[in-house]
Amino acid sequence: MKVLIATEKPFAAAAVNGIKDIFGQTGHEVALLEKYSSRDQLIAAVSDADALIVRSDKVTSEVIDAASALKIVVRAGAGYDNIDLDACTAKGIVVMNTPGQNSNAVAELAVAMMIFMSRNKFNPGTGSEISGKKIGIQAYGNVGRLVAIKAKALGMDVMAYDPYVSPDAMKADGVIPADTLEQMYSECNFISLHIPATPQTVGSIGYNLISLMPKGGCLMNTARKEVINEAELVKVLTDRPDLKYVTDVAAACQEELNQKFCTRVFATPKKMGAETAEANINAGLAAARQIADFFETGCLKFKVN
Ligand code: 3PG
Repeated sequence: MKVLIATEKPFAAAAVNGIKDIFGQTGHEVALLEKYSSRDQLIAAVSDADALIVRSDKVTSEVIDAASALKIVVRAGAGYDNIDLDACTAKGIVVMNTPGQNSNAVAELAVAMMIFMSRNKFNPGTGSEISGKKIGIQAYGNVGRLVAIKAKALGMDVMAYDPYVSPDAMKADGVIPADTLEQMYSECNFISLHIPATPQTVGSIGYNLISLMPKGGCLMNTARKEVINEAELVKVLTDRPDLKYVTDVAAACQEELNQKFCTRVFATPKKMGAETAEANINAGLAAARQIADFFETGCLKFKVN
């Protein structure tokens, strides 16, 4: 079998070597397409691949149509909104993710962003401390739980909202369950987004929620830019000169945000939540093992379609 690793944003070398080792033992061939600049390169590379490992690379129906031998796509990471699941399912192609494998890296970045914004993006001037403040975690999954642990260790009060997690499970972690999103936004100095991009969540974070935040509140997005209603974000940052927005996924209107609200907004130049050697190794090797197991035993653990 031929496994294509297609990563516009490459894995750390140690992760690529680890993946090669795994497939070296199973006898599968590995091809590498890194830092590619056009969809056509991916389309050409995938044409004879039996398995595909990607990160945030867009696996569109066009890519799937070109992949005549493809049996499995593994997104080395959590969010699989970059993969056309319907196109894969229609061709009987299995899609998996590797949940939890890069979560700690994203959680650490969320904490870093919180301190960075509290200290005026490291510009001169009086900042504030996060100890004693309250953080609201929107979606208490793998990343949300890790943010909660770290925030508590830093002396913060932690609240979470997640309709899929029982309040008792949150309480057992020392986390205050919010009855409603509105309650959480009203009470928290920081809101950290960890929701996936789905038809239900896209554009769901807008004026009505953000404007509930207390004075000096900071919205932190290490999820997906699509969950924000950007026109309403601009409006609320205009109406509330005390609020801040920090994001690991530059908004489509990031230039406008930077120009209008310079000191109160920040976007990483390229998505970097999972950009650690550890996360690359964890997610990359998990993807390789999942593919090896799929071919060897038909294992479908972590199938998402
Ligand atoms: C994820 O969904 O796992 C994260 O957003 C990381 O994405 P990346 O692999 O493109 O850095």
